[in-house]
Amino acid sequence: VGKSSVLFLALAGVTIPVACMKAPGGSAESTTAKAVVLPASIQQSRTNIPKLYQEACAKCHGGQGEGGGGGTRTLLTKDLYDQKHDKPFYDAIAKGVPDMGMEAYGETLTPGEMWGLVVYIRELQTDWMRQQTGSRNEENKVYTSGGERYKIERLITSGLRTPWAIDWLPDGRMLITNRPGDLAIANNQRVIATVEGIPKATEIGQGGLMDVTVHPNYKSNGWIYLSYTEPDGDNMRRGMTKIVRGKLSGNRWVTQQTIWEAPRESYNGSGVHFGNRIVFDGKGHIFFSVGERGAQALAQDLTKANGKVYRVNEDGSIPKDNPFVDDESKSKGYLPSIWSYGHRNPQGLAFDRDGNLWDTEHGPRGGDELNRVVKGANYGWPVVSFSIEYNGAPRSTPWPASGEKFKMPTYRWIKSIGACGMDTGRGDAFPKWRGDLFAGGLSGANVDRIRVAGDRLVERDEILHGMGRVREVAVSPKGEIYVALNGPDHILRIVPAK
Ligand code: HEC
Repeated sequence: VGKSSVLFLALAGVTIPVACMKAPGGSAESTTAKAVVLPASIQQSRTNIPKLYQEACAKCHGGQGEGGGGGTRTLLTKDLYDQKHDKPFYDAIAKGVPDMGMEAYGETLTPGEMWGLVVYIRELQTDWMRQQTGSRNEENKVYTSGGERYKIERLITSGLRTPWAIDWLPDGRMLITNRPGDLAIANNQRVIATVEGIPKATEIGQGGLMDVTVHPNYKSNGWIYLSYTEPDGDNMRRGMTKIVRGKLSGNRWVTQQTIWEAPRESYNGSGVHFGNRIVFDGKGHIFFSVGERGAQALAQDLTKANGKVYRVNEDGSIPKDNPFVDDESKSKGYLPSIWSYGHRNPQGLAFDRDGNLWDTEHGPRGGDELNRVVKGANYGWPVVSFSIEYNGAPRSTPWPASGEKFKMPTYRWIKSIGACGMDTGRGDAFPKWRGDLFAGGLSGANVDRIRVAGDRLVERDEILHGMGRVREVAVSPKGEIYVALNGPDHILRIVPAK
């Protein structure tokens, strides 16, 4: 049929295809695209976005986005993969491309469905991009990124169980949390000891022992901060994220203090979205993140602990300049430790070169986010999202309706990477990477090097892919980049290649 399209009319369940000819290159007759009428058979696919694409769009755009139908161009180009096309893609679907023979879907599909189609196109593009770029996954091979030459080494290959976080003691030994609940002490070859007497964590689903962060002035004060899923009394099948600090006496955990715990009502049996990462701002505070525990709406509720980034003083007391500590907030029962809200499951937290705080968090299917975390801001979950549901059903558009104020992410990963673990380039190993963010992904099995300026994404480069699920990315005092994998439970290290 050349560059023409087929318009379907649905009449009392009977589908009659009607040829709708449009001249290639467009014609002067109209600049407004005709609204599409979907046949009944396709109507049923609206709850499944991949199916909807295959039935309504693939005839022109190709099953993999490769184009071809009626002369339609491929969607598989590096430029079209860029996130700057998110809104133009959405607009093309809503308004059509009349001059090129694509009808408008804006009156036929909901905004969530049209955004869902953009997500699905991004999934197709991601698979194609992977074929183009390959994977940086070979040990001791020299790779380059951002003016640095590097190679990947495998350090620890046994003795770890779902390693979750890494930090360093001043003598160079590592502390590594294992999610089932034990804190290991390791050198660069192996686990050499287990810390005795840390609080009992319960490993329900994604919960368990999570972050470990050594105080920046450890040498003078000896504090180590831990986050874990605290069981609900004796009930090991219910729990919630809790933060404590303590000290090491030999290999024993001593002098424990509670830094933050959630109201008892939020302890539950859900196995998802505990967060958590802890970072110091160097100005007397810690920031940490807690996921929404699958109770999506509570991320918007400032009286609930779920789906928030928090700021407290290093001893757990509430800073006077937190955003929700005034009399009005108090009378409404807002939690005074909240710094920002509307988060889903933030599992990466780090400061950039300018001292701005960033989080990475999971979307469901598509729409993992890199957010600049600012005081009092609302990040929109679950009202707006760059995601579709795991089962392919549509959600919302990522853009707020007028009147709603949400802070948009600086970058969104579609496909999802299962964002987890982030740290900042420092030290002498990679001078050109100082201040860059290094962010990992579980399902994405990736480490991305990300450069930001203000709210803006300057550069993103995947420096490792396909060696296992990336749970943690931690930059050592020397500036080498340590990566904790889950499955296999190994520790890798990225070092300069001479
Ligand atoms: C009748 C053929 C046809 C159908 C059906 C069709 N499109 Fe298109 N679409 C086109 C053409 C032609 C263009 C213009 C760009 C080009 O020449 O490839 C286009 C442009 C687009 C663009 C913008 C791409 C760019 O290069 O900026 C997007 C996104 C898109 N279509 C998505 C969809 C989706 C989603 C569907 C299904 C709901 C769909 N289209 C259905 C033919 C079609």
